[in-house]
Amino acid sequence: MKILVIHGPNLNLLGAREPGVYGADTLETINGRISGLCTELGLEVETFQSNSEGTIVDAIQQKSFDLLVINPAAYTHTSVAIRDAIAAVGRPAIEVHISNIHKREEFRQHSFIAGVAVGQISGFGAESYLLAIRAAKELLSR
Ligand code: DQA
Repeated sequence: MKILVIHGPNLNLLGAREPGVYGADTLETINGRISGLCTELGLEVETFQSNSEGTIVDAIQQKSFDLLVINPAAYTHTSVAIRDAIAAVGRPAIEVHISNIHKREEFRQHSFIAGVAVGQISGFGAESYLLAIRAAKELLSR
């Protein structure tokens, strides 16, 4: 079973970007932890980051995966196109956020993605991704 993990815009800057909000771990470190956990759970994984909405839509349409774990970052709050791509491919998706978006500015409290996701994990720092991988394992084992 293959998991595709997509990181949206500005997440390539993790580690340096607002560490008080997003923590000190780099994306490379987080991807390493994701890969380690997937190996432990017997899951294949591909990680992918883009700052561009169209590139993310193309990845959802074109890459092979059984389940999508996505942190759409700022596109969470703006992108009907990413929402529609997830709905179009018809495979389960888990929405991830490092920070708790519901505790932050009002504009972050609406997600266009939540309505097409199985669920959302928000606010556990980089651990949010690992919780999503565990949830993915559970969903794919059903
Ligand atoms: C984020 C939250 C978004 O509101 C923000 O635009 C991000 C990161 C998170 O992981 O906490 O870039 O998705």
